[in-house]
Amino acid sequence: MTGTRDFEGMSALVTGGASGIGAAVAALLLERGARVAVLDRETAGAPEGTLALKADVTDDGAVRDAVDRAAAELGGLHTLVSNAGIGSIGTVEDNADDEWTRVLDINVLGMVRTARHALPHLRRAAADRPGAVSITQTCSIAATAGLPQRALYSASKGAVLSLTLAMAADHVREGVRVNCVNPGTADTPWIGRLLGQADDPAAERAALNARQPLGRLVSADEVAAAIVYLASPAAASVTGTALAVDGGMQGLRLRPAAD
Ligand SMILES: NC(=O)c1ccc[n+]([C@@H]2O[C@H](COP(=O)([O-])OP(=O)(O)OC[C@H]3O[C@@H](n4cnc5c(N)ncnc54)[C@H](O)[C@@H]3O)[C@@H](O)[C@H]2O)c1
Repeated sequence: MTGTRDFEGMSALVTGGASGIGAAVAALLLERGARVAVLDRETAGAPEGTLALKADVTDDGAVRDAVDRAAAELGGLHTLVSNAGIGSIGTVEDNADDEWTRVLDINVLGMVRTARHALPHLRRAAADRPGAVSITQTCSIAATAGLPQRALYSASKGAVLSLTLAMAADHVREGVRVNCVNPGTADTPWIGRLLGQADDPAAERAALNARQPLGRLVSADEVAAAIVYLASPAAASVTGTALAVDGGMQGLRLRPAAD
């Protein structure tokens, strides 16, 4: 689809759009002809050409103001990509209640707040562009596979998966499609930070590569391509779907590689 301008005349808002997967989505949407706003708590990395809006997804008023400003300045809102999220390491014994509250507040309620304030704009856009109006949420392989040391993070992404399905049902008759993408381990600044905490970063990277049947991490651009497909007019019949971009991690069961 490179070179197509299928988002011409459409406006998009990408949360967490100043880094990693979100920045790749914002850049691709721009390339495909959309007007793009980025909502992030740190906007320095927002791609050039986007409207950068500084807001924290835990602050309902700030999210409302940013969403309304994006719609006002870009001329409505057709595409919401809800992608802001944070990681958390540990078993169910390791994180205190306030850490559970913090991570769920960002990863789950952040998406609730963004959708709540975007929906009035999306409904208006749907009247003009049947099939082209959507919410796409960044979920994770952690929602569908049991990964060690990710109890809280996995619970948050499991909630995102179920939320995606419920929202898809609630808004299908309003012309708003809702889907999510489930990345495997993706090579973003996030993983850089994770490797930085490991005793042996090179060994940790090799272990993460080996966990994915394709033998390497997923790239931010590969995840962005899937998100932009789900948001595009070409996906007019796609709602309530979780699209894995995980190097085969969820679906494949390989025998150990022969030397
Ligand atoms: N990198 C991976 O391996 C991976 C795998 C599966 C899912 N994901 C998901 O992809 C999404 C993006 O992750 P990434 O790897 O690009 O990480 P990243 O850290 O590079 O980017 C995340 C962005 O979200 C923003 N953000 C975080 N908390 C925020 C808040 N409270 N309010 C506003 N903005 C906030 C950050 O400032 C940052 O710009 C996340 O939802 C993450 O759970 C990542």
